[in-house]
Amino acid sequence: MAKLKVGILISGRGSNMAALIRAAQSADYPAEIACVVSNREDAGGLEVARKVGIPTAVISHRRYPDREAFDRDVSTALEKHGVGLVALAGFLRIQSAWFPEHWAGRQINIHPSLLPAFPGLHVQRQALDAGVRLSGCTVHFVTPALDSGPIIAQAAVPVLAGDTEETLSARILRQEHRLYPLVVRWFAEDRIAIGDGRVTVRGIAPDATLLFSPEP
Ligand code: GRF
Repeated sequence: MAKLKVGILISGRGSNMAALIRAAQSADYPAEIACVVSNREDAGGLEVARKVGIPTAVISHRRYPDREAFDRDVSTALEKHGVGLVALAGFLRIQSAWFPEHWAGRQINIHPSLLPAFPGLHVQRQALDAGVRLSGCTVHFVTPALDSGPIIAQAAVPVLAGDTEETLSARILRQEHRLYPLVVRWFAEDRIAIGDGRVTVRGIAPDATLLFSPEP
């Protein structure tokens, strides 16, 4: 069967992108990374993708009069590569309503908190300030409202005494790198269904959509 073509949008170092690329290097992985698009020329992830021969494009938002014009060009670049799933991986642009509507049910994001807690930026700071004992990451469908589309899966990690934004962030990131490839696999296997704003993953026990890691 033909593999699902995934387009990844990045703005920075691209470690989640790299985790997806690594997963897709296995012959039995049902998705391939068809292209990587960055809105920033200096995004570190671009070099990582280029090195393994994945087509990349830089589309600078600065050259566009408004968000939608930028979004439409990004979309055209993805469609040129036959993309069936858009995976945001540290893509730091707020989209116009047009983009998530155009890619509805075909665009996912990874966010470093247990949503709906702590959307937006400075996520680990928010978690530490709130004094939560548990945090983690969430993969969700993208809708026009920021960080609030239907949740597909989460991974939880403890928040430890003495944690800083850096230590908590690193602990969560390790789980992001497990969770994102897993969700893309489920999507490619056509297991993911949305009904009434809630997601079910066919053939996967509901418990398996929560990873828990006690590792410090
Ligand atoms: C990750 O923490 C991700 O959850 C958030 O942005 C960060 C991107 O990191 N959306 P990387 O570029 O994938 O390393």
